[in-house]
Order: sequence, then structure tokens, then C-alpha cells
Amino acid sequence: EKQGFEHYMLKEIFEQPKTIMDTMRGRILREEGLVKLGGLAEVEDKLMHAGRIIIVASGTSWHAGLIGEYLLEEFCRIPVEVEYASEFRYRNPIINENDIIIAISQSGETADTLAALREGKHKGALVLGIVNAVGSTIARETHAGVYIHAGPEIGVASTKAFTSQVTALVLITILIARKKYMSVVQGKQMLDDLQKIPANVEKILAQNDYIRELAETYYSQRNFLYLGRGYNFPVALEGALKLKEISYIHAEGYPAAEMKHGPIALIDENMPVVFIATQDAIYDKVISNIQEVKARKGRVICVANEGDEQIEKHADHVIYIPYTCKALTPLLSVIPLQLLAYHIAVLRGCDVDQPRNLAKSVTVE
Ligand code: M6R
Repeated sequence: EKQGFEHYMLKEIFEQPKTIMDTMRGRILREEGLVKLGGLAEVEDKLMHAGRIIIVASGTSWHAGLIGEYLLEEFCRIPVEVEYASEFRYRNPIINENDIIIAISQSGETADTLAALREGKHKGALVLGIVNAVGSTIARETHAGVYIHAGPEIGVASTKAFTSQVTALVLITILIARKKYMSVVQGKQMLDDLQKIPANVEKILAQNDYIRELAETYYSQRNFLYLGRGYNFPVALEGALKLKEISYIHAEGYPAAEMKHGPIALIDENMPVVFIATQDAIYDKVISNIQEVKARKGRVICVANEGDEQIEKHADHVIYIPYTCKALTPLLSVIPLQLLAYHIAVLRGCDVDQPRNLAKSVTVE
């Protein structure tokens, strides 16, 4: 049921404070700064000693996987590859003895992701799942895994599953990291920050009317560019995918610094650019990318942290989000991009819950 919302997608966007909480529920031991994941209990040691983690997924789940790469490499110091399942399955991939495969899938039925995990299993890898649909094929065929507990996702555009997948990846990261390089204090700190995410998502959702107004300014554009760095690079990809799949506007996501290597040629007054420019070590670099866009008459929408007033000098429009540690930023920075895509699609008269040519779960190649 849509519970008074005009579309399932909007309902699911607004559910995120709860669904992120549901992913964490019962899994956090705050005092010890530890995470408990029943579904991984038997493979914890193997995870800790993994030589490499290979994440296989498609679409939005692949974007969550990219964030997983940043998390697992930074905090667990385990090398991670993120593979499109469709490419991995046919590439005769190299699997070494201590490699672990993690398949990420909302539906648990995506044909390519399933085939990739079967291929990895066949070559002897331990195969884990991060899945929403309980009892789905991927959940059944993996050796172990984590359910994200986001509840049924009806809108074809994945929203709440994404934030729950990222939350699950944060939990897995802390689970492993605490056995290796992460102290109890660091574990506690990250878990405290994680537990504040739902209330912070709520604050962003409260800006829905403002984001709708922004959509009114931009909905007739034909192209969009999304740029972000670090943990926000996958968010740029996800923001662009949301827009293109439901509004049919051509949109591309890039790591902000790649702009100079090609996309900058596209920039003029008809190429709005969405920057994710939250406060972190590479903030200044993102600001100079913004200036480069402005110098070429591009219109700039920025997702920035509350209190960052200097950004208003550079951007045409700013959407403010609360500050959180950089590793958790995607859980907040993606929310305004989901809303922006939603409102633009509605203003264009598109069927947001059932976009043309798309199926909720892609069970054929
Ligand atoms: O069910 P899955 O997570 O395996 O689905 C993967 C993709 O098909 C899916 O994320 C798709 O890209 C969405 N429509 C994105 O919103």
C-alpha cells in the first residue's frame, strides 16, 4: 500500500529512516563497539583472513558495492574488486584460494548476479550474499549472508534497498575491522554515527518541498552531469542512474576529477551539474571543479554540509545535509538525489513506479 503517498517510490524514499534502522536492528553491541551478524557467524574467520573480496552486482546494487570497496579497503585493508556481474560471469575470472565473493542484490533473482555467484562458487570461492528478498534464489545459493530487512521494494527505481545495502556493508566492515585494525573507541564512534543516520535522513526528507522547487527549475533540461569524489563518487553514479531511469533525461555520473578528461567539453548553460561537495579532505578539490564548471556557464546544484555557507558563492543552488563521518556520507548524500530525480520525473509526467522498458527484477540476461 502507498500509505497516502502518490507513488511507491516516494513512499520508499520516506521509509528510509525506518529501513536503515531495520538493517541495524539487533546487530549492534554498542559498548564493545562490535557488530553481530548471525548470518555470517560461521564465516567470520574466513572474512578476516580474506586475501581479496570480489563484489558482484548490477545497477544500483553495483553502486552500493563500490561504496563497499571504499569501506572495506579503508577500514579492513582487504583488497576489493567490484565487478559487473554480467562481465564477471563470462570472463573466466581468476579466483584465488582466500578470495571471497559477495553478491549484492535487492531481489535476489537478478540473472547475471546469480550466474556470477554460481561461477565463483564453481571455482571454489566462498560466496556470500547481501540480499533483501528473503528466501530468494541468491539467498539460497550463497554459503552465508546478511539480509538487509528493508521490506518489499515495489518502485522499479531502487531507493531504500540501496541505503540498506550500504548500511549492511558498513556493518560488515566494522565486523571485520574490529578484529583487525579498528579499536573499540573507533568502533563505538562509527556505530554512534551510524545510529544517528536515521534522524539525519529525516532532516533531509523535511526539505522535500525545497527539492521539488528545484526540480521545477530544472525539469525541462535534456542532460545532467553528476560529480562526486571518494565515497561520493558512487553516489554521483547512483544519482545519475535514478534520474535517467525514471525521467528519461540523459545523465552521467563521474568522479569529479575525471571531468577534465572529457566531460568538461559538454559543459555550457544547458548542462546542469550536480556536485556532491561534503566536507572532507578533498572538499577544496571539489570546489575548484565547481569553479571550472561555473567558468563555462554551467549551472551548479550542490549537495553540501549544513553550515557550509561559502559554497553559496560557487553554486546556483545548494541542498544542505547534516554532517556525518565521510564513510557514512553516502547514506545522506544520496537522499536529495533520489528526491530530485523523483520530482523531475513527476513534473515530466513519467510513470515513476513503472518506467518504460524496465523490470523490477531482471531475471533474463
Ligand atoms: O535486484 P537487484 O538488486 O539485483 O537489481 C539490480 C538492478 O537491476 C537494479 O538495481 C536496477 O539497476 C534498478 N532499477 C536501479 O534503480
